[in-house]
Amino acid sequence: MGSEPHTSLKGRSRRSALAIIVAGVGALAAGALGLIAGFLSNALRRNPPRPWTRIGPAEDLNAETFQKYVLRVEHEHAWIHERTAHVVYIKDLYPKDPLALLSTCSHLGCSVKWDVGGGHFRCPCHGGVYDEQGSVVEGPPPRPLTRLEVKIEDDVCYVRLPDAAQRGASA
Ligand code: FES
Repeated sequence: MGSEPHTSLKGRSRRSALAIIVAGVGALAAGALGLIAGFLSNALRRNPPRPWTRIGPAEDLNAETFQKYVLRVEHEHAWIHERTAHVVYIKDLYPKDPLALLSTCSHLGCSVKWDVGGGHFRCPCHGGVYDEQGSVVEGPPPRPLTRLEVKIEDDVCYVRLPDAAQRGASA
């Protein structure tokens, strides 16, 4: 009988010690989750997923020749808000299987033009020539034209610009 209060006190202090440990572990877990969430949100802010740009109804894609589209991309550098235009050429090689090429020449970045009669892309700056797949045929360009990701969703065609173009590198 005399030892009951002592036992009860021991039990109470064990329970409060346990409560302190549980609270401490909970606080640590919450802190770790907060750090992870902060890291992920920073990473997403720095590298937001590249958006798809709507081109138009898939049935309007041209299967005969390359059609020129001008895509305007908005982006921010520190406090400056800018818009950059990118020229893209698209041709529907097979029904609803379009090929989209960025017009930026891989030599020094001039904008190539589709030569309808000749069936080539020609660069006005140093005579670079590309075939209709965007491969280099002639001149100084070291690489093919950049092929864009394309998708058709609900009969609408979308393209996705490469990272550099999305960040504002001009076409
Ligand atoms: Fe196109 Fe030089 S920039 S060939």
